[in-house]
Amino acid sequence: MTTTTEAPPRDDQQVFDALIEADSRVEPRDWMPDAYRRTLVRQISQHAHSEIIGMQPEANWITRAPSLKRKAILIAKVQDEGGHGLYLYSAAQTLGASREDMLDQLHAGKARYSSIFNYPARTWADMGAIGWLVDGAAICNQVALCRTSYGPYARAMVRICKEESFHQRQGFEILLALSRGTEEQHQMAQDAVDRWYRPALMMFGPPDAESPNSRQSMAWKIKRVSNDELRRRFVGMCVPQFEALGLTMPDPELRFDEETGQWEPGPIDWDEFHEILAGRGPLNAERMRRRRAAHDEGAWVRDAAAAYARKQTERPAPAGASNHKEVAA
Ligand SMILES: [Fe+2]
Ligand SMILES: [Fe+2]
Repeated sequence: MTTTTEAPPRDDQQVFDALIEADSRVEPRDWMPDAYRRTLVRQISQHAHSEIIGMQPEANWITRAPSLKRKAILIAKVQDEGGHGLYLYSAAQTLGASREDMLDQLHAGKARYSSIFNYPARTWADMGAIGWLVDGAAICNQVALCRTSYGPYARAMVRICKEESFHQRQGFEILLALSRGTEEQHQMAQDAVDRWYRPALMMFGPPDAESPNSRQSMAWKIKRVSNDELRRRFVGMCVPQFEALGLTMPDPELRFDEETGQWEPGPIDWDEFHEILAGRGPLNAERMRRRRAAHDEGAWVRDAAAAYARKQTERPAPAGASNHKEVAA
C-alpha cells in the first residue's frame, strides 16, 4: 500500500509569491495582486510617455544637423524612440490598460514622463550630450529592468537596451568630434555636458531614503536595483568616458569612496527636480502643446489604419486560401 502526501492547494497569492521568490516571470494570464498590476501600469505607461515626449528635443534638431550623415543618424534615433514607446504601450496593454486611456492621461496632464525632457536642447552639442548622458542613464536603468518580474516589460527592455546602446555611442561620437575640433567646438561640447549632467543624475529618481514606493517595488522585483545604486553605477561609467572625451566632469565634489570602491556624486538640487515634476520646468508647457498637436495631426493616420484593419477582417477569404492572413508591408 502506498500513501501519497498531497500538498494542500495553494491560493493565488501563494502561487504569485512563489513565482517572485523563484525569480520567475509573471505573465499576463497569471493572477497578480491589484497593487502589483497598478504599479506596473503606472510605471510602464510613464516610461512609454517618456519615450515619445523624448523624441521632441532631438526631432527639433533634425533639419539643423550639420551633415547628411548626422541627419540620417538622428532620424533613425528619434524613430527608435517612437518604437520604444510602441513596445511599452503594448506591454502596458497586456495588463488591461487601454492605449487611448494612457494617452488621454498624458494629454490631460495627469500622467508623468521623465523630467529630463523639459530642458531645452540649445546647440548641436546637446544632441551629443543627450545621446551620451540621457540615453546612457536610461541604459543603466533599463539594463536592471531586463530582469524585472513582469515578462512583457522585461522582454521589451531587452530589445530597447540594444537600441539604446547605439544611441549612447552616437552621442559620444558627436561629443568626441566636437571636443577634438576647434576651441569653440570644444567649448560647445563642454557647455552641453555642463547643462545635461545634473539632470541626467536626477533621472534615477529621489534618494533611496526619500523614495517610499521603491521598497514595495523591490519586494515585487519590479525594481531590481535602488535609485542611489543605479546613480553610482552611472557616475562610475561616466568618469573614464569624460576623460576619453577630454571634457571636465561638472561636479567639483565628486569623490571616490575607498570603502565601497564607487564614485559618489556631490549634492543634487532636488528642489529643481520637484519644480519640474510639478510642471514648472523650462519647457513643460511647450512639450505638452507639441504632443497634443502631434496626436491631433496623426488622427487621420490612426483612422486609416483602423479602416484598413477592418477591411482585412471583413474581406471573405478566397476559395482555397490558407488560414494565413496576408500581412501588409
Ligand atoms: Fe528609448
Ligand atoms: Fe534612446
